[in-house]
Amino acid sequence: MALIEMNILMKRSSSRREAASRSRSSRYKQERKTGKTLRSVPQLEQPPTEATQHNSVNTTTESLKISNMADEKQEFLELNNGVRIPSLGFGTWQASDKELEDAVEHALTAGYRHIDGAYAYENEKALGRVLKRWIDSGRVKREDLFIVTKLPEVGNTPAGVVKYLQRSLDNLGLSYVDLYLVHTPFGYHERGEDLHPMTDEGVIDVDMGTDHIAIWKAMEDQVEAGKTRCIGLSNFNEKQIERVWTSAERIKPAMLQVELHLYFQQKELVNYCNSRKIKVCAYSPLGSRGSAKLLGKEIPELLENPEVKKVAEKHNKTPAQVLLRHTIQRGIAAIPKSTNPGRIVQNFQIFDFELSPEEVASLDAQDQGKDGRILDFKFFKGVEKHPEFPF
Ligand SMILES: NC(=O)c1ccc[n+]([C@@H]2O[C@H](COP(=O)([O-])OP(=O)(O)OC[C@H]3O[C@@H](n4cnc5c(N)ncnc54)[C@H](OP(=O)(O)O)[C@@H]3O)[C@@H](O)[C@H]2O)c1
Repeated sequence: MALIEMNILMKRSSSRREAASRSRSSRYKQERKTGKTLRSVPQLEQPPTEATQHNSVNTTTESLKISNMADEKQEFLELNNGVRIPSLGFGTWQASDKELEDAVEHALTAGYRHIDGAYAYENEKALGRVLKRWIDSGRVKREDLFIVTKLPEVGNTPAGVVKYLQRSLDNLGLSYVDLYLVHTPFGYHERGEDLHPMTDEGVIDVDMGTDHIAIWKAMEDQVEAGKTRCIGLSNFNEKQIERVWTSAERIKPAMLQVELHLYFQQKELVNYCNSRKIKVCAYSPLGSRGSAKLLGKEIPELLENPEVKKVAEKHNKTPAQVLLRHTIQRGIAAIPKSTNPGRIVQNFQIFDFELSPEEVASLDAQDQGKDGRILDFKFFKGVEKHPEFPF
């Protein structure tokens, strides 16, 4: 079933790819003639200098469409230090080592170059094994990959930043990552190797002294030490981001990764981030269908939304592709996760169609505001006691 699904999708996408490639090639010729867009594109290989970290801001609000990567069909966002990130990435949460190794093989073959990991997903070593195979065999260059990982809650201290980034690098077998994120605004006390340490009372052992400003200084040090090209935040609210942004003397946050999808569009937070030149990355862009068990509750089925289905039919696309396209068209990155080969390919085939302003408006109108949030982190019992909760 999965293979049939993949074959159909690959055939369908290959003829679209040819058509899109023809139109793109004439656009690039045009761009070369006029000197627009290409001139504003920094070299991916260039490490950020101190000057670009301080001064360079993104002057383009649209995704950049460049054809110099392994799969010429990607779109990119330019971060506030001039570094480019593929706007579609691959999620790795809730996948066993074996599932992840297979899935990342499929993802890299399909053309994904941005991979979203985290120390707390406990599968970085598996990801590292696949990256090593691809880099060693010359199928991909390190500089063509955009690897993201995150500081776990037990590492939410300045010393934790140093320790856990080095551990992630060792797990991944890399000397640097492209983006390092503070995973959550709240922190836990370290108790051995337990990522979710519990007290004798059966609640999570929250560290009431989490200091975002001190943590951020340690994050800045990691860029200067060459261990990450960019730094950012995840699950932080506007007030928390503003505190970090204002205090950041050397490097401003480049990216905010938050839950964002059809029912939780985060319009105010995205506007705020735009005003601060912080790019946004949408996690759970398909509604995290696999998390029902973890959350112990029913999860709304975004893929069954009638408006999404209507738009999908019109474009001969799947509901998942429409949901991803809707996010990407807002200038927001998205990191869908799948371990199914057909769906991995399908989720990548979103650069050969465009939603009309009317379709965008009809999808924008599906937003449910705060009620649309799926992941509130209350599955960590007692996390509500942390002073930085809710976020
Ligand atoms: N920063 C954070 O705190 C945070 C929190 C959550 C997630 N994340 C990141 O964001 C990534 C994505 O979020 P997520 O995993 O919560 O949810 P998601 O990507 O919205 O949804 C994943 C689920 O959708 C299914 N799926 C994928 N493609 C599909 C398609 N085309 N049609 C139908 N179903 C499809 C997957 O099942 P199959 O595998 O069977 O296809 C899986 O159950 C994570 O993997 C992680 O990297 C970050």
